[in-house]
Amino acid sequence: MNQVWLRVAQLEDADAIAQLVNRAFQVERFFIEGDRINPGAVRELLRKGKFLLAEQSGALAGCVYLEPHGDRCYLGLLSVDPGRQRSGLGTLLMGAAEEDCRAAGARGIDLQIVSLRTELPGYYRRLGYEENGTAPFPASAQPKQPCYFIRMSKELG
Ligand SMILES: CC(C)(COP(=O)(O)OP(=O)(O)OC[C@H]1O[C@@H](n2cnc3c(N)ncnc32)[C@H](O)[C@@H]1OP(=O)(O)O)[C@@H](O)C(=O)NCCC(=O)NCCS
Repeated sequence: MNQVWLRVAQLEDADAIAQLVNRAFQVERFFIEGDRINPGAVRELLRKGKFLLAEQSGALAGCVYLEPHGDRCYLGLLSVDPGRQRSGLGTLLMGAAEEDCRAAGARGIDLQIVSLRTELPGYYRRLGYEENGTAPFPASAQPKQPCYFIRMSKELG
């Protein structure tokens, strides 16, 4: 892997983060239309939590969002640029996220995935996450196929 630089996002990164997330989440177009996020929504998230960014060769290559929820942390929007996937960046970002949450005193990390993304439970299981429930997918998002969220968690110990 080319050298990777990790840093915490600033407000001015919002446009680049939205572009990256939308490119990565095009994989979900088979069940949901449209962009995953826009820069305004990223700025909103930056007020409640933080994005860790991975940069490679001067370009934004990956990101992950972390939001404190009591003594736990919600993790979302893990995104790796499609041209750089399967080179370890997602795993690197997940490790950095874990380190960040542990340093902040969080007891565990929670995330959710859409049931139609059948490749993802195995990905997160290999990183130590376990399924622990489901949640409804918002009907307002108008998915093209029936689906729900699968919740997964990891205790940080
Ligand atoms: C999911 C995602 C973050 C993984 O990041 P990544 O950098 O590509 O993954 P890593 O290189 O760390 O891990 C690679 C391993 O994970 C598994 N994996 C990753 N993506 C996979 C896919 N699309 N299908 C099947 N297995 C996959 C494989 O085991 C792979 O190892 P291999 O290439 O040796 O077979 C990335 O594919 C992505 O951005 N996807 C679109 C957005 C998304 O789905 N985010 C998660 C929503 S909850």
